[in-house]
This record gives sequence, structure tokens and C-alpha cells, in this order.
Amino acid sequence: MTRTLVTSALPYANGDIHIGHLVEYLMTDIYVRALRAAGEDVIYMCASDSHGTPIEVNARKKGVTPEEMVAEYNRRHLEDFSGFQIAFDRFYTTHSDETRHHAERIFTRLTEAGLIYKKDVEQYYCEEDRRFLPDRFVKGACPRCGAEDQYGDSCEKCGATYDPTDLKNSFCVLCQKAPTRRSSVHYFVDLEKARPEIAAWVAKDGHLHPEMRNWLEVNFLKNELRPWDISRDAPYFGFKIPGETDKYFYVWLDAPVGYIGTTQKYCDEKALDFSAWWEKDADCRVVHVIGKDITYFHTLFWPAMLHAGGYTLPSRVQIHGFLTVNGEKMSKSRGTSITARTYLKHLDPQFLRFYYASKLGPGPDDLDLNLEELVLRVNAELVNKLANLASRSVALLSKRLEGKTGALDPGAAELLAAARAKVPELVAHYRAFEFARAVRELCAIAEVANKYLQDAEPFKLVAADPERAREILSAALAFVKGLAILIGPVLPDFQARCERMFQAPRPWTFADADFTLAPTTLTPFERLVDRVEPAAVAAMVEDTRSQFAPPPGPGDRVPAFKDTIEIDDFGKLDLRVATVLTAKKVEGSDKLLQVTVDLGREKRNIFAGIAAHVDPAWLTGRQVVVLANLKPRKMRFGVSEGMILAAEDVDGKLSPLGPGLDLFPGATIS
Ligand code: MSP
Ligand code: ZN
Repeated sequence: MTRTLVTSALPYANGDIHIGHLVEYLMTDIYVRALRAAGEDVIYMCASDSHGTPIEVNARKKGVTPEEMVAEYNRRHLEDFSGFQIAFDRFYTTHSDETRHHAERIFTRLTEAGLIYKKDVEQYYCEEDRRFLPDRFVKGACPRCGAEDQYGDSCEKCGATYDPTDLKNSFCVLCQKAPTRRSSVHYFVDLEKARPEIAAWVAKDGHLHPEMRNWLEVNFLKNELRPWDISRDAPYFGFKIPGETDKYFYVWLDAPVGYIGTTQKYCDEKALDFSAWWEKDADCRVVHVIGKDITYFHTLFWPAMLHAGGYTLPSRVQIHGFLTVNGEKMSKSRGTSITARTYLKHLDPQFLRFYYASKLGPGPDDLDLNLEELVLRVNAELVNKLANLASRSVALLSKRLEGKTGALDPGAAELLAAARAKVPELVAHYRAFEFARAVRELCAIAEVANKYLQDAEPFKLVAADPERAREILSAALAFVKGLAILIGPVLPDFQARCERMFQAPRPWTFADADFTLAPTTLTPFERLVDRVEPAAVAAMVEDTRSQFAPPPGPGDRVPAFKDTIEIDDFGKLDLRVATVLTAKKVEGSDKLLQVTVDLGREKRNIFAGIAAHVDPAWLTGRQVVVLANLKPRKMRFGVSEGMILAAEDVDGKLSPLGPGLDLFPGATIS
């Protein structure tokens, strides 16, 4: 029996899992479940990637130790993954004795093989924060196009890539101060010396999708391989380099070693033989599933490290593309940067499992989650084709025929045989990461089965000829069972509920997917999956948007500005400075003050709606601004001959306006 060890990339313990990450973990989980259903000895290893500058800096910002932060994200990640039925055999952490042990072994062997050398490197250093600044911690103007606020490695405006020391007007992203430069000794792996092993690994058929192999050959292997800097200076969260006091392994040196460290932990806990999985020439296939952004770590550095360390090299590095949502990069403001936990608050994980599977192939193309398409596809295929076949046949059999199946309708024999003949091909699709094809073919079988059931009309026959109806339903249920088994890797819940209804004596495997059915008694129908409600999808997007929206401050409530006017429009207002002679509350009104003002040429009587905000005694003697040419208005209490100007804030508080200095009453304003 082939033994297979499968991994997903180790998520950084520095933030929550989102639907982009889930492409990878769902893809891997489907693959692992399919291999297991095919009878293989397979384990799925994953862990938190716990080291590096961002984790160290973030923990400091939160006022916790990196160990505490990493433990908290490890817990949250595992919770999220379980919510999506992603079933690791072990989810561990790279910050472990096991990973340290194997990382040091690899480092020692690399050193013994003469692949490590030391060299002085000049880097940006922040005197304020007292640390060297990695590429993502320095910003400045792009040396090519001059765009401001670009990272130290590449420009988002013009796409240029450069060294951080090329940036203009650079500053530290932590304290905004200009960095200095400092030199320090770094450890390098001389990759060029490992070229024969790397090139051979890349070239071998099956290791990589041809598109990715070609990409590596054109972009890297064609040229001299650049040495790889594997050390970082303190402060850093990671493993100390043996023999050093303030130098650490760069996170990418120990991160993939986490695959090995996790297997070590798993084997120790289960008293299994570790060497059967990782020791050189072990009879084991190692399959890494990763996103395309981390390809060169896994296909250049990693084979070289494994070779030097004396471990099994991967049989395949399966690379997927990036997720877009509704055709665009995930966005916080559009509400499409959806975390796993937010998704689970609103929607059934089976929807996303089914939708991603229906779009995934073995190539590195990006994939789009179109939320409208998700609703349509899940409802049309998963609910209407797969789940309805089961619900219609189980419901009728339970209600009218004691839930007992019997001989299968001979009229369905050919259709069932045709489905059976497809099984090897379907299993092969799963093994080849051709999930979209597998789903498409399963839906086609479900369509045939639904049509058969429709045409045979057991619901009409059940009263007059119950045994004939039983034959038909038994044949339909043979389809249901076969389909439930074959869709099982994608929809473990769906399969588990069917297993219960069919009272399967043990979990089904692909060997049971023979589209036959021995006479059996079904338990009452369980709902397999509900329809997706578009309102629930909208609520999820809104929920996401609100999580990232800044809390509303008073500034957000300031009313919008009015339409533009001409200076002549303003000139129509006759604004004057007036001195308040008397002010008193108007009897019978909470709002109004009766005010007499001196406008230099004449005195006026004005009713002003400021009684709730202004004390008449305070107002008396003060200077205010009056709109002097406003048409006199007759009010319940008398005639108002102008208007006192006041400012109003978002809370409705009013404040009369006055000139900055005392002026002669009647002074004009423009
Ligand atoms: N810690 C490294 C991996 C170390 S493996 C030894 C890392 N972590 S990550 O959290 O940033 O990403 C984990 C995986 O999720 C990567 O394979 C990455 O490609 C994948 N994805 C992250 N965002 C993604 C999308 N938007 N779409 C698809 N996959 C994405 O990289
Ligand atoms: Zn700084």
C-alpha cells in the first residue's frame, strides 16, 4: 500500500484564516479524504508558522509575548479549520523542540557539505527601535517612478523590484524616522552548489505542474542561483543559530521544517515509526500543497535542504493560484475579505467546499469566488441535483414503504452500470487534483438518476403497486449511495448523514461505490443540506464590511457640502455686525429668544431660535452677525426683522457667531 504524507502551507500565527487561505486547506483536505477513501495510508500534517519579525512586532504591539500570541492564533486557526471540516491528523507549531531539532540537523548537514558561508551585509537599521529593518518594514519613494510610500522590495505603482537601500526618503514603518545603515554578519546558503540536486528535482516528471516547472526554469534555473540569506539579528522570534548569541534562523529556514517536526510529534504521540515517513528513500510519497506566492521556497530551497539533511524529497509540490472575490482582490471596504469565522456565522461550510471543488483544477490559475454564482451553483447542483435525489427517494420510502429497500428495478440496471463504469475515472480525477471534473461528472450522474426517478414515477405507483415502487426507489437509492460516497471527499457531512440513513456498518470507502444496494432498512430522512439564501450571503458581506469600518466618529456625521455657488450669489446676503441691546425668553416658547439689536443705522427686533443654548444675560451686550436683508417675517409673537447667525454642530448644539474684535455696529461682512 502506498503511504502518502500530505501538507498544506503553514499559516502564519499572526491573523485569522480567511476565505483565500481556505482554497488551499479545502483543496488539501479533499485530496487527503479521497486518498483515504481509495484505501491509502495517508496522513495530513500542518502547523502554525510561528516565527519571524511580523509576529515579534505584532505581539509587542498587543502587549503579549510572541509565545502567547502564537498559542492564541494556533487555537483560533484550529477552531476555524474544524468548522470547515478540515481534518488534519496533527496541527502543531514550528515553535517546538521537534522542529528545532530537525532545523539544526539540516543546518549542520548544510555546513558539513560546505554549502554555508558567512558574509557582512549592510542593511537598514532603526536607531529608535534598535532593530534591523526587513524589506516590509522600510518604506520610501520608488527609485524608478518616484511613487511615495512604497515597500523596501517592490513598487506597487510601477512594479519595479529593487533593494531596500535603493529607496529614496526611506523611513521606518514602526516609528516613521529615517533609518541608518549598519552592517552585520549573515549566514548564506550557496544554492549554486546545490544546483544539480535542485535542477534534477525540478526537471522530474510529476513533481510540478509543467507551467510551474517552466516558470522556475526561465526565472531561476537559467541564471546563476542567488545565495540565500538564512540569518536574522535580534530582536527576532525564532530559533537561535547554534553557536551564536544574537542571531536567529530566518523564519523560512525553519518554517518548512515544521512539516517534519509535526510528523515527528505525531509519530511520538502515536508510537509510530517516524523514519517510515521522512528518512531518505523512505517508501513514502510527500505531497506539499501551496499557493503560487511561496513557490521558490518549496521548489528551490526546500529540495536543497532536504537533500543535504538526508530526508525524503517531495513527490509533488501542488501549486494553486490566488483567490479573487467577484473578480477583484479581496477587499475590506467591499466586505469581501471574509474570515473563516465570519463565513461560519452565516453560511454552511459545505457550500464553500462544494463551490471551490467545482472550480479547482491542477493548474496554478487564479480562481474567482463569485458570490452570485455560488448561490446559483450550490442551489442548482448541490441542492437540486444531489440532495433532492436523496430526499425524494428516502422520504417516500420511509413514509409509505417502512423504509425498506429490496431488489433494484431491472429497468435501471443499465444506468447503474454506466455510473459504476465511471468510478475508476472519478477516483483518478481526485488523485490528479481534477476536482472540477469530478464534481461535473458526479452532477451528470445525479442528473441521469433524477430523470430516471422522474420518469418512473414511484409516487404515483406506490398505492396501487407498492412493490414496483419499492424496486424503483431501491434503484434510486443505489444511485444516492454511490453519489454520496464519491462526493464524500468534498462533502464529508453529506456523506456522514447518508451513512447514518443507510445504517452503514462502517464508514464507506470508494470500494463501496459500486452503485448497487443490498436490501436494507433506512432510518428516517435527515436533511442533507439547505439552500443558500442570498440574504445570508449579503449579511456575511455586510458583517465583514462593518468589522473593518472605522468606528463612527463625529466627523462621519458632518453633513455633506452644498452645491457650488457664484460669488454673486454670496453678494446677495447683507451680513452685518450687530450689538445685542436686550435679550429675553419668549413666553410660551422653549426655543425662541426675543432680541433687540443695534445695526448702527437702526435698531431691530429679532426672534432667534437659540433659547435652549444661550443664556439671555450672556448674550446681552455681545456682538453677533445678522442677516440684515432677510424679508421681515410675521411670527406668532410679533415680526422678526432679520436673522442672527449661529453655528450648529452634529449634536444640534447652537452657538451664535460674532466678529473676532469689537466693531462699530452695522459693520459689513464679506
Ligand atoms: N507561513 C507561510 C507558509 C510557510 S509553509 C512552510 C505563509 N503563510 S500564509 O498564512 O501567508 O499563507 C498560507 C497559505 O495560504 C499559502 O500557501 C498562501 O499561498 C495561501 N494563501 C493566502 N492567501 C491566499 C489567497 N488569497 N488565495 C489563495 N491562497 C492564498 O505563506
Ligand atoms: Zn523605527
